Amino acid sequence: MIVNKIDRKNYDCIIIGGGGAGLRAAYTLAKSNHKVAVVSKVYPSRSHTCAAQGGINAAVGNAGQHKDDWRFHMYDTVMGSDFLGDQKAIEYMCKEAPDAILELERMGMPFSRDDNGRIYQRSFGGQTVNYGGEIAKRTCAVADRTGHALLHTLYQQCLSLNVNFYSEWFAIDLVRAANGHVVGVVAMDLETSALQFMKSHFTVLATGGAGRIFKSSTNAYTCTGDGLAMAYRLDLPLQDMEMWQFHPTGIFGVGILVSEGTRGEGGYLVNGDNERFMPSYAPHFKDLACRDFVSRCSMIEIREGRGCGPNKDHVGLQLSHLPKAVFKEKLPGITELSRVYANIDPMVDPIPVVPTCHYMMGGIPTNKDAEVVDYNLGSGDQVVPGLYACGEVANVSVHGANRLGANSLLDLVIFGRSAGQSIKDKLDQGVADVPVSDDDVHQAIQRFFEFESNHNSGAAKSVSELRVMMQEIMQNDFGVFRTEISMKTGLEKLKQLDDQIRECQLVDKSKSFNTARVELLELDNLMKVAISTAKSAVYRTESRGAHSREDYQSRNDDSWHCHTIDKIKMDPVKRPVDMSPEIVDAIPLRERAQ
Ligand code: FUM
Repeated sequence: MIVNKIDRKNYDCIIIGGGGAGLRAAYTLAKSNHKVAVVSKVYPSRSHTCAAQGGINAAVGNAGQHKDDWRFHMYDTVMGSDFLGDQKAIEYMCKEAPDAILELERMGMPFSRDDNGRIYQRSFGGQTVNYGGEIAKRTCAVADRTGHALLHTLYQQCLSLNVNFYSEWFAIDLVRAANGHVVGVVAMDLETSALQFMKSHFTVLATGGAGRIFKSSTNAYTCTGDGLAMAYRLDLPLQDMEMWQFHPTGIFGVGILVSEGTRGEGGYLVNGDNERFMPSYAPHFKDLACRDFVSRCSMIEIREGRGCGPNKDHVGLQLSHLPKAVFKEKLPGITELSRVYANIDPMVDPIPVVPTCHYMMGGIPTNKDAEVVDYNLGSGDQVVPGLYACGEVANVSVHGANRLGANSLLDLVIFGRSAGQSIKDKLDQGVADVPVSDDDVHQAIQRFFEFESNHNSGAAKSVSELRVMMQEIMQNDFGVFRTEISMKTGLEKLKQLDDQIRECQLVDKSKSFNTARVELLELDNLMKVAISTAKSAVYRTESRGAHSREDYQSRNDDSWHCHTIDKIKMDPVKRPVDMSPEIVDAIPLRERAQ
């Protein structure tokens, strides 16, 4: 039997994903001498964390005229989330943030510095001091390459601690024992296509997001929702999947990110008449309003005929008034990206930009220890034994319906550390071995062999055709503005495409670095995420944060101050939002001011 031929290895903990969250979890475990392995489909220093530009938030209070406080950061995060964020988790993240930054500094992260040698901080959207007062400068930065610096810092630490890396290995599916424990993963070596069952006491999903469900995305091609789909196939929930962030400044036509740090440094958006338009929509925050709001304003400018360019289909990001030193010292990355990808010099001309899919606020529900939580109506929350999730794949939920820029690097560091710490504590206490049957392992490789043995010919569409069709549906029907009729039509089309994936034939069966095989498995994962997004978006009949419906234009707290829980075989249900922080009083529901 095939299962018997699969190689097996044993670990205390398997971490799937070599980005910032996975590496931060690995760091804690390796430091305490537990046997940990990181499985990463790309070489870890190429993980998507390296694309994060503008910074990481923490109320360290180095800049600005006012003292900063983690409570102000918490307030802004709750307001930014449009009250869909869980306040216990938000409180924990914001309170822990300053120490987490100092820890990164001590690891060697090369932060930019102010004139006094302290960590440099800039302004980012939706962030204030004194609970909605003056715009804060809370975002600690390494020029506009903060994620790159963070990733390399953590990777070097993990190397020095001899973490086992399975680089260029693709996780096929989780293995779950009959008693419900998750006991590891089956993964494929991309160099040889050999499968291995990595058995472990604990498994951490740190696989990042799935922004490639959209046609226009700032996400790497590797952001294909692998961890989300693995959990979904096990009948575990995905939460708030309707909440996708569109970053206001993706380079028009190519989708590459231009950091919000540009507006933090004094840049602003202009329309086709060269008018700065944000102050009239958001008198207080102006260009530093929350991303959901700025993206809608840009789309309104474009839809009402005030866009830039011959087709009036984008807006401009004006930076040419900034001092040259700012480009050189604070924005070198976006200066180069604008030249290469937009063929313009931002010191002279506005960068053509358009709202572009950037971040998944939804994900696998977890508690603040990063343990995955199952949810069922009637019985409520239940921790899934053996399984953790952190970083973008997880929904803890600190971002709710709209993430503040620069809270994602913070989220992955804080909850990556939580995952590592919680697993370390359990391992230190001693854990019993969970028996695993061949049948359990077989479940995890079934999908792989179904695709492998599919000998259909003729009718089926190619993987790339199906992927493009999915991305167009998502872009057109689940973008910045949404309506019931188009979302329902989109959902039906996605279900048909999902059936067609089952027909896909893997023509190229070669073993070494067979990217066609990986793309098929990835498309299968992407489609699960797209369908969950569509089901959840149709379900939520209100507008909140990034979920902006033209047929239900207001937030409706009476009916919808709740998370959306979606599982593969059922219709979505509601789960309460946590309003019980442990130190401060809960921030009560109120309108977001602009
Ligand atoms: O705009 C940016 O630099 C992106 C940061 C983030 O998404 O956190």
